[in-house]
Amino acid sequence: MTNAMQLRPPCPFQTDVELANKTTMGVGGKVPLLVEPRNAEEVVAAVNYLRAEGVPFRTLGGGANLLIDDAGLDDAVLLTERSQFCQREGESGLALRVSCGMPIPTFVQRACDMGLAGAECLVGIPGSMGGATAMNAGGRHGWLSHIVTRVKVLTHDGAVEELAKTDSMFAYRSSMFTDSVVLETVVELAPGDPAVIRAKRTEILKEKGAAQPLKQKSAGCIFKNPTDGSAGKLIERAGLKGLRIGAAEISPKHGNFIVNLGGASFQDIAALIREARRVVFEEFGTRLEREVKSWTRDAVDW
Ligand code: EPU
Repeated sequence: MTNAMQLRPPCPFQTDVELANKTTMGVGGKVPLLVEPRNAEEVVAAVNYLRAEGVPFRTLGGGANLLIDDAGLDDAVLLTERSQFCQREGESGLALRVSCGMPIPTFVQRACDMGLAGAECLVGIPGSMGGATAMNAGGRHGWLSHIVTRVKVLTHDGAVEELAKTDSMFAYRSSMFTDSVVLETVVELAPGDPAVIRAKRTEILKEKGAAQPLKQKSAGCIFKNPTDGSAGKLIERAGLKGLRIGAAEISPKHGNFIVNLGGASFQDIAALIREARRVVFEEFGTRLEREVKSWTRDAVDW
């Protein structure tokens, strides 16, 4: 890219920044430019600026479902975490407009405080609302797509569009927004008693905490579940739980999580992912498909 020192994006930015602490896995090298817009207008201005300067960029939300190579990247990164709001809209009082950088846990808390039910299915999921929308975050208790009514995006060709939800907008851990920047997500919730919502939230969190290594650094589930089963169960049945490479470990608690025991490298994690895929295929003939995204300079053989 153009020398990052010469670039002046129209919003806060930093040069030569390490991304490890911007991901829940705690791994990630340096990028030449980190652009930090504070609202949707600044996101649009920043993207237009980067495009006009010919600077390739990637969009980073809460870094929850992402592995970044610790060798670093040449692209700029647009970090959405400063763009945080969550406000009611419409007549019903049941709709909330949420900006892309809003952390999912904060959104879940706000909805509960406002006496709005339906967002608690997302409790225990880290990351941002923009990322959650693009990846259709969720689990056993519900998916974000169940409560979304509209999504405002900056499309690949620079147009800002607000789209009403359609049947084809979301799929399992994916959406039609993977190529766009999600600016805002509108959700429709149901009236509820905050005490009841809080109790439900606690119950879901307890269930998740018993099954998943929520207190350790991880990128969430590594693989999508195969259509007829559970990736975690297959990895457990293959005897891989607790397997370590460097400082990365297949969680003894849940087979579909790789945890960073402290100082894990991208290569450690990549090697564990490869090993899990290899052994599960050999044992059961199932090809596990990666759910986590990865950012690397060079293509990685998974
Ligand atoms: N299981 C095992 N061993 C394991 C893990 C799971 O036997 O190591 C068994 C469980 O006992 C259960 C079944 O496999 O019978 C399913 O496991 P679990 O309920 O833990 O859910 P999951 O299918 O592994 C999915 C989502 C999670 C989400 C949970 C709970 C995927 C890939 N994973 O996990 O999402 O939190 O349901 O709702 O869809 C994520 O995507 O990052 C994620 C964590």
